[in-house]
Amino acid sequence: AETHYHEFVVKETPVKRLCRIHNIITVNDQFPGPTLAVRDGDTLVIKAINIGRYNVTLHWHGIRQMRTPWADGPEYVTQCPIKPGATYTYRFTIENQEGTLWWHAHSRWLRATVYGALIIYPKLGSSYPFPKPKLEFPILLGEWWDRDPIDVLRQATFTGGAPNVSDAYTINGQPGDLYRCSSKETLKFLVDLGDTVLLRVINAALNQQLFFSVANHRLTVVGADAAYDKPFTTSVIMLGPGQTTNVLLTANQTPGRYYIAARAYASARNAPFDNTTTTAILEYKSAKRGVSSRPTLPQLPAYNDTATVTAFTSQLKSLSQTKVPTQIDDSLFFTVGLGFLNCNPGPRCQGPNNTRFAASMNNVSFVLPRRTSLLQAYYQNIPGIFTTDFPPVPPVKFDYTGNVSRALWRPVFSTKLYKLKFGSRVQIVLQDTAIFSTEDHPIHLHGYHFYVVGQGFGNFNPNRDTAKFNLIDPPVRNTIDVPVGGWAVIRFVADNPGVWLMHCHIDSHLTWGLAMSFLVENGVGELQSIEPPPADLPPC
Ligand code: C2O
Repeated sequence: AETHYHEFVVKETPVKRLCRIHNIITVNDQFPGPTLAVRDGDTLVIKAINIGRYNVTLHWHGIRQMRTPWADGPEYVTQCPIKPGATYTYRFTIENQEGTLWWHAHSRWLRATVYGALIIYPKLGSSYPFPKPKLEFPILLGEWWDRDPIDVLRQATFTGGAPNVSDAYTINGQPGDLYRCSSKETLKFLVDLGDTVLLRVINAALNQQLFFSVANHRLTVVGADAAYDKPFTTSVIMLGPGQTTNVLLTANQTPGRYYIAARAYASARNAPFDNTTTTAILEYKSAKRGVSSRPTLPQLPAYNDTATVTAFTSQLKSLSQTKVPTQIDDSLFFTVGLGFLNCNPGPRCQGPNNTRFAASMNNVSFVLPRRTSLLQAYYQNIPGIFTTDFPPVPPVKFDYTGNVSRALWRPVFSTKLYKLKFGSRVQIVLQDTAIFSTEDHPIHLHGYHFYVVGQGFGNFNPNRDTAKFNLIDPPVRNTIDVPVGGWAVIRFVADNPGVWLMHCHIDSHLTWGLAMSFLVENGVGELQSIEPPPADLPPC
């Protein structure tokens, strides 16, 4: 195994998109940021040097960080932010993971522009469970605002209302042909007739689920979130923010130019969304030159086509039989959803009918500490930072997908953790609520990947739904897009000690509190215990 050393300089860089130049936060002046490519078993040592204007932290999305929670990155959860002028070195080892992950800033909304791909190849001497593709392209889907990204953050954080929707989606940082002033920079992926290509598709968008498709070409899904899946073909895939999907494509069409495209899957009723389409071009090298015709656009589903989403996600199955726990020690039921609070009319009260949005899990709207991180508070026994009384089930039961009186659901704001015993087998039912509107929420768990044993619509009903769980080959993920007005059930073994954030990967929802944290206690001996904190861990 190898050790890879990198320097990530976080700074401001002028970037031109949609006819205008904005200063954005980048790593090493690159947008998207550098691609990290490693093999399973390798160690990454990344020195983050912050010469920008804002506090920052970096997160390695989907990396398990076994016993190294100090390198996980969410601000005030596992570390205090790296202040302007400061540095911090992230050091971690990849253990038994292969596929496509990514990295991003985990401080306020900086991940809007601070992100990149993290590719994990099989160990030397081992190979993919499918024929080696001739070419590989990472495809990072993102969002772009035609204003200072920091203003976008401020608007969403401080008005209590819905965030401004983006002005463009992007593929590897470029909006593409269909947007103003963007044609020249539209990305081209060149192929020869007959090539097989591995597309590593990553949804790095801040607030939007996305459909993805390539005109005239079928996609063979072979993995998601750094785990291999049973291959199946489809013309379209859907990714929630945070999710990745690996697909194989064969260049077997008439040599020409075809659009690679993505646009919104927007399940919420009456919520505004960016309805534009980002494109890149798949170009056969042998295509006739000088033909000025526009490439073919793929048929993307309608923005609210939940049936297509369900048809896609229900086909995801692990490549081989898994070690999904069949007995459960800790059975949890978490509601996920948006609500609102009455507030005094004013600039911070821009939600529906003189309210402001607040999101919660089991009625708790998560509040980050400021004096220290949760992990430090646990490790150093600092009292008064958090409590461990996060409710294992909702405090009140109701019809989660029906109309609910607002009085029933006024979230409490606090920093509550849920304690898991080392080695315990955990099941969580994630249930969408309709307090504001039903939505699909991409729920991401740090420090773990988990088995998705079931999902469906309406209220989860254990008597009806448990019998249908897949306990043979459920897909392994780190982010589950809980169906709109429905539920998903995940299972994992709590074998990684630390404090681990679980949250909605839509940043506006995270800002409103759709998060909680697990505290997984140390097991017996060194191999089951958190490593000591690095000497350069930033102070608060
Ligand atoms: Cu992709 Cu908490 O993050």
